[in-house]
Amino acid sequence: MTRVVVVGSINMDLVTLAARFAGPGETLLGERFVTLQGGKGANQAVAAARLGAQVMMVGAVGDDAFGPQLHDGLAREGIVLDHLHRIDDCGSGTASITVAGGENQIVIVPAANARLTPAHVEKAADAIRQADVVLVQLESPLETVEATLRLGHRLGTPVILNPAPAQSLPVEWLKLARFVTPNQHELSILLGADAHEDPRQMMQHAPCPVVMTRGAEGAWFRDGDELHEQAGFRVDVIDSTGAGDTFNAALAVFLQQDLATAVRKACAAGALSVTRLGARGGMPGMAELDAFLEHQA
Ligand code: RIB
Repeated sequence: MTRVVVVGSINMDLVTLAARFAGPGETLLGERFVTLQGGKGANQAVAAARLGAQVMMVGAVGDDAFGPQLHDGLAREGIVLDHLHRIDDCGSGTASITVAGGENQIVIVPAANARLTPAHVEKAADAIRQADVVLVQLESPLETVEATLRLGHRLGTPVILNPAPAQSLPVEWLKLARFVTPNQHELSILLGADAHEDPRQMMQHAPCPVVMTRGAEGAWFRDGDELHEQAGFRVDVIDSTGAGDTFNAALAVFLQQDLATAVRKACAAGALSVTRLGARGGMPGMAELDAFLEHQA
């Protein structure tokens, strides 16, 4: 069983479904509103657990009404929560999400996620030492991301850095990651490159191995000096929220297999994740993923 530690955000997603996105200053009538659990870190933890990994979450919730709900949601997925911190006098992270035509727009308020410190990561050092892989994203304070990369490197545990939402990071940090997993937009911002540059060129010049997600088109990945392509899987898209999180989790869970296999399974898991509403709605279990892949060419 793959042991995964996720350092990252935990949000309550406030999701509105609408026929289209509102423009600046415009008011629209939505079709439906739901409150669903999310956050890039927590989503990755859930996706990895559903794929059979033993998962520990290092994160923070507030002392508001959402805090216990978010805690219990992760507990129900079997995630180890010894390093889930409750921050006093602080709200839990929220994401206001509009879903229209399968696409989304998201505004995040980090709240308790902004209070996840390098000290919290250090406290989880034993778990990180024993883990097969660590996942970290950019919805946590950057000093906490850096601490995770440095600790993983020091302890010899590979860290997958999912640089989302897009930010530029010091090259020295990128060199500490086993893989960095941006989409095209995140890759150009991460490397401070021209957005019009061919992403395959950017990948060749990146200071670390890159697996670049391409939405419905699949992924490109660099293994040594060679660039490879994994085609996307065709599915009916209901809600693309959480597709990247599912991809990253699956990559981590299957990383011990060869990279091409891990990326193929990650693309398939990501594709399945968009077929239901909510970041976690479509995240597959192992049986569903296997059955889906069996029917692909
Ligand atoms: O990646 C999807 C997630 O991004 C959502 O669940 C939302 O919480 C935001 O963090």
